[in-house]
Amino acid sequence: MGYFDDDGFLDEHIIKNRSVLKPEYKPEKLEERDEELEEYVKLLRPLLKGWDLDNIFLYGHSGVGKTVATRTLLPDLRDTAEEQDINVDLLEINCSSANTSYQSTIELINEARSPEYPLTTLNLDKPELSKTGYPAEQVYEELFDDLNEAADNIILILDEVNTLGSDSELLYQLTRSQTMHKLEAELCIIGISNDFNFRDDLPARVKDTLCETELHFPAYEQNDLVSILSRRAEQAFYDGSTESGVIELCAALASRDRGSARQAIRLLRKAAELAENQAVETDNLDSITEQHVRDAEEIIERKLVTTGIRNLTTHRKYVLLAVTNLAAQGNTPAQTRDIYEYYQTVAREFGRDPLTRRGAHEHLLEMCDNGILKNVNRDQRGRGRPNKYKLDTPLETVIDALEQEEDGEIDNLDDLRNQADRQTRLGE
Ligand SMILES: Nc1ncnc2c1ncn2[C@@H]1O[C@H](COP(=O)(O)OP(=O)(O)O)[C@@H](O)[C@H]1O
Ligand SMILES: [Mg+2]
Repeated sequence: MGYFDDDGFLDEHIIKNRSVLKPEYKPEKLEERDEELEEYVKLLRPLLKGWDLDNIFLYGHSGVGKTVATRTLLPDLRDTAEEQDINVDLLEINCSSANTSYQSTIELINEARSPEYPLTTLNLDKPELSKTGYPAEQVYEELFDDLNEAADNIILILDEVNTLGSDSELLYQLTRSQTMHKLEAELCIIGISNDFNFRDDLPARVKDTLCETELHFPAYEQNDLVSILSRRAEQAFYDGSTESGVIELCAALASRDRGSARQAIRLLRKAAELAENQAVETDNLDSITEQHVRDAEEIIERKLVTTGIRNLTTHRKYVLLAVTNLAAQGNTPAQTRDIYEYYQTVAREFGRDPLTRRGAHEHLLEMCDNGILKNVNRDQRGRGRPNKYKLDTPLETVIDALEQEEDGEIDNLDDLRNQADRQTRLGE
């Protein structure tokens, strides 16, 4: 008998076309984004009259269609412009892989020379740069030399620009493209951000330039997600493969969380995979049930949180350690003040200067966004109730994940584990 002998896997069960559920799949039509697309078009269409474009700051939480909308509109804009002899080149990168200005600039140069992102139209016949070893001035000079070889109009797409954090050198250099760098083409920057606060932290000059116009993509509501998921399900599954309530449940869970279409689609895909596997094994199942969705949610959640914790940046990890310690003592939900105090001790124990209270608080908020922590008074914000935080993941899971964190700074947390055990015993 061979390992791959047919055991029913090849029969038709639930999934017909798996690729439409993948994150990189580009849907033919964007559901429930008419208004936002219309706004976006208004910002881009002046180009068709040969007018300059304002720079655009496009912001909204992760998974609300910012990238897919940009990738839908810009090729169309370019084609329409070319029909009128207006030449446009597009250059797209995602800043999160590099996350410093220096590295992002090198990535822009290499993207212009050897394109990998779908929007990029430049393809200069020059060798790529290595990732290190050049003085910064030279790197910026090369970038503008490359841009001077492009069309009369250049649209630069900096996706996830917020991952540059406070390192705004690239953005600053771009604001000086005409004066300092003698760029002849018209340059439009589209900065896409998952984080609205990023804008506030930019130096004034950069902010004024980058955020000439702003476009907001709000989180999806449950009904929006139902439309998006229904359309995907039609393409992805055989008829009748979703029990009633399944799509609604995926949409409800995702909208209750962050209103992310990415999250909703991922949930449906995982649920479908669980159902498909079960269908292969048992002969009497041919649809996705609400239970599959709930199981899928648990699996995804656990995995996200564990990988999230393992990859936390240094201070975020210390903030989490503080909350974890307070939780093990039975002292959560805890106020920012108390968490901050504990965090300072932790940071010093690891030989680091603590961040300011505001800096540490940012990390608390981020971890709430990532589902690691929960702000229990969130809905009462602004009504005189202090923010209070607790773990949004079982203590045991957090401790395990912290012990496996990437930097290897944390040895073992047995003391914390014992303390947590004592605490539960006391509580019983
Ligand atoms: N309005 C929509 N209609 C159909 N699919 C959508 C829509 N908005 C987002 N998606 C899908 O959800 C996922 C996340 O969208 P994306 O544009 O990557 O979000 P963002 O860039 O805002 O994080 C993608 O797989 C995308 O195809
Ligand atoms: Mg995106």
